[in-house]
Amino acid sequence: MKIFYVVELLLLQLCRHAVLSIITPSCPFPCQCFSATTVICSDTKMKTLPVEIPSQATALIVLASDLRQIISQKHLGNLTKLVFLNNPVRNISHDAFEGLGNLQELEISGSPFLSLEAGTFSKLHKLTKLLLNSNKLRIIAPSIFDSLEKLEVLQLRANLLQDLHKALFHTLFNLQELNLSSNNLSTIHMGKLNKLKKLDLSLNQITDLPMDTFHGNPQLQTLSLQGNQISKVSPGIFSYLNNLEELNLRNNKITMLSNGLFPSCLKKLTLRGNSMDHLSPKAFTDLHNITHLDLSENLLSFLPIKLFHNLSSLTHLDLSKNLLQELASTTFRGLFQIKLINLQENELTSLEADLFTNQTSMMRLSLARNRLENLPNDIFEPLDFQCLLKLHGNPWRCDCDLTYFHDWLSYYSRTVEDLSQVFCTNPQSLLGMSLTTINKEQLVCMNTSISKTQAVSSNSGTRCSLQEADGGVVVRCKLMKCTDLKLDMYLNQEDGEALKYTITLPSLELFQCSNGTVVLTV
Ligand SMILES: *[C@@H]1O[C@H](CO)[C@@H](O)[C@H](O)[C@H]1NC(C)=O
Ligand SMILES: *[C@@H]1O[C@H](CO)[C@@H](O)[C@H](O)[C@H]1NC(C)=O
Ligand SMILES: *[C@@H]1O[C@H](CO)[C@@H](O)[C@H](O)[C@H]1NC(C)=O
Ligand SMILES: *[C@@H]1O[C@H](CO)[C@@H](O)[C@H](O)[C@H]1NC(C)=O
Ligand SMILES: *[C@@H]1O[C@H](CO)[C@@H](O)[C@H](O)[C@H]1NC(C)=O
Ligand SMILES: *[C@@H]1O[C@H](CO)[C@@H](O)[C@H](O)[C@H]1NC(C)=O
Ligand SMILES: *[C@@H]1O[C@H](CO)[C@@H](O)[C@H](O)[C@H]1NC(C)=O
Ligand SMILES: *[C@@H]1O[C@H](CO)[C@@H](O)[C@H](O)[C@H]1NC(C)=O
Ligand SMILES: *[C@@H]1O[C@H](CO)[C@@H](O)[C@H](O)[C@H]1NC(C)=O
Repeated sequence: MKIFYVVELLLLQLCRHAVLSIITPSCPFPCQCFSATTVICSDTKMKTLPVEIPSQATALIVLASDLRQIISQKHLGNLTKLVFLNNPVRNISHDAFEGLGNLQELEISGSPFLSLEAGTFSKLHKLTKLLLNSNKLRIIAPSIFDSLEKLEVLQLRANLLQDLHKALFHTLFNLQELNLSSNNLSTIHMGKLNKLKKLDLSLNQITDLPMDTFHGNPQLQTLSLQGNQISKVSPGIFSYLNNLEELNLRNNKITMLSNGLFPSCLKKLTLRGNSMDHLSPKAFTDLHNITHLDLSENLLSFLPIKLFHNLSSLTHLDLSKNLLQELASTTFRGLFQIKLINLQENELTSLEADLFTNQTSMMRLSLARNRLENLPNDIFEPLDFQCLLKLHGNPWRCDCDLTYFHDWLSYYSRTVEDLSQVFCTNPQSLLGMSLTTINKEQLVCMNTSISKTQAVSSNSGTRCSLQEADGGVVVRCKLMKCTDLKLDMYLNQEDGEALKYTITLPSLELFQCSNGTVVLTV
């Protein structure tokens, strides 16, 4: 907020040289007059506004001065915009805005000691925009906005309001945008604001939303309730909001959603950072037009199979930071437009091969920080090759089951965002190695049916046994005498093809053999 003002000021100062020629000579110190209609006065020592401000001025901005009281500026009847930013204004004289009947926009912000009298704005019949932000206001007289029938935008953000009188907004028939974010409200009465389109109630202390809260606001398009203490959302509370497109319920304490809670016109819904541990199969059933759905940072460990089946317009789905362990192969069916799926930071141990069937528009997919050991063959086939993938932070088991993924990576490594972070966790011999640095031949599987065959006889009467240990195979052979030994190993791959390895131990002068036993670890 402050930063924005400073930038605006800097820009104006930068422009100063360019417009120097049109600065009127009559511009009073410490003000600057741009094109004679915009006047900016800023000086930390200025206690009162200079009287000689040109009367043709249409915009007056008073910035970072020592102004403590706003008094009458009757001669500036052409003003349409009047702004006081970051001044230590305490009070406003009763006639301060008399004669300013053309004023359309008034801002008094960043005045932490400000107090407002009931009649302050009573003469401003043309006002469409009133901004009273960051003033530490605790109380507002219930009749203060009564004559502002043209008002379209009202901002009261970053104050200390605890309560809003029921009659506070009752005459604001034209209000379209109301911002009450960052106050201390615990309940709300929106009343009959028939034309209200945008309402921001974020960062307050609202605990519950009675069924009729938004009854008088049928035109609402954007509603933010983020950062409150809401644990229960009454069924039906949004159902008559037939124009609602964006609903932000982030960072509340919601544990469950009733069926059909959300109106079918919704396009963006944020439920991030709540406490939901399950969702009903019909939670989103009517949202045919929704494009963005954010369910991240909840406690979901499973998803109903048909949860997303009607969301044919969805492009962005965020399920990150939940406790998902598995996903049915049909979970994402019906998401024909999906571009982004974020499954980062869940507990997924495996994925179904046809999980992404028909998701040809996908641009980004994150599977990072799960518990995936391998990926089924062909899982990425449906995805466009430009789709960006995140796969790091999984305990990849680099054996024959990973050959599809290994081959796929060799073609599409560019599409993986954090490739060098994709490590093998198993077997021990490949621990910590990046999947792209190992050869396909190193991705071998033990044929466990052999390893379970305890003893294998060789043609020369040698008896050997096999044992799996730590991702390797230990071969123990009892020898009649210590001669040359040749060991043929057939490793069966997933596709049924056998890989043959031959190990010859030319001179068995190995100490293990001196006892008539040779121990070999592969
Ligand atoms: C307004 O504030 C000034 C000082 O800032 C003070 O002298 C004056 O009495 C105040 N007027 C009202 C009506 O509070
Ligand atoms: C408004 O500006 C016009 C010139 O644009 C001027 O003639 C008129 O006197 C101004 N009105 C007031 C109240 O200063
Ligand atoms: C917010 O409101 C509560 C009562 O609802 C009050 O106890 C608390 O002091 C208020 N906080 C501030 C910063 O005014
Ligand atoms: C309300 O004000 C906050 C800043 O305090 C801003 O981030 C938010 O976008 C505004 N809400 C609306 C609906 O414009
Ligand atoms: C969904 O979007 C279409 C096309 O934009 C629109 O015609 C339809 O009325 C919308 N449906 C709802 C329930 O808002
Ligand atoms: C999808 O929507 C139709 C009606 O719009 C409804 O009959 C059906 O039950 C919904 N399906 C799911 C899985 O929610
Ligand atoms: C994929 O799309 C094709 C063509 O639209 C369709 O025939 C097929 O049933 C879809 N497959 C799945 C699993 O949805
Ligand atoms: C493992 O090897 C045995 C003996 O050669 C063979 O019969 C079996 O089909 C193999 N199993 C697999 C899964 O390849
Ligand atoms: C040699 O064989 C004896 C008895 O068969 C056994 O106790 C001993 O541990 C063996 N030594 C080695 C080095 O394998």
